[in-house]
Amino acid sequence: MPGPDFPGAESFLPPRRSLPSLATAVQGCRGCDLYREATQAVFGDGSADARLVLVGEQPGDAEDRAGEPFVGPAGRVLDRALEEAGIAREQVWVTNAVKHFRFTQQGKRRIHESPSRWQVAACQPWLLAELDALRPEGLVLLGATAGKALLGPGFRVGASRGRVLEPLPTRQEWVVATIHPSAVLRARERDELYAGLTADLAVARERLAGRG
Ligand code: URA
Ligand code: SF4
Repeated sequence: MPGPDFPGAESFLPPRRSLPSLATAVQGCRGCDLYREATQAVFGDGSADARLVLVGEQPGDAEDRAGEPFVGPAGRVLDRALEEAGIAREQVWVTNAVKHFRFTQQGKRRIHESPSRWQVAACQPWLLAELDALRPEGLVLLGATAGKALLGPGFRVGASRGRVLEPLPTRQEWVVATIHPSAVLRARERDELYAGLTADLAVARERLAGRG
């Protein structure tokens, strides 16, 4: 349901769907309205041989400028939590459910706004093509948007987090859901949320190690 005036991403995907060709083609996507205000599309990044793919929501302000996922404040939380959970960031692939930054301008500041349901649906072909090119063993879904993008609109982080969900109806990978790292930044109980994020990531690490 890409919305009244936009076709969704499918027709912008390249015929041969390698990671480099997808990363190039996404810059030309006009599948929803988000390309208009954003600086650039932000494709995933990391190890092309990754056994684990982490899926966030959408690029933030820093990512929109840099053109790379999770390089701003939320990315620093994620990096630290991954390290603490025993997962090397160099060995994973990190991406987002939506490839362009959605925001509202307030003076000079750009305030993050979550993508709408139809924007998530419009962008889903990029994520699915990316996962098909990567063929990882497992996925970590960071927050509600990533969960809804792959598991449907009924997904709730609280009900699903911190355990291995398998198999996905339409995919091969096992899945661990957790909170979004930016929730840690917003929380009053930061330590508690951070510990929960790290514990959920450790569930994915155990599964990768064949122990979960
Ligand atoms: N939040 C996300 O979901 N993804 C990013 O890349 C950065 C912040
Ligand atoms: Fe295309 Fe996704 Fe960007 Fe919308 S957000 S224009 S569907 S890449």
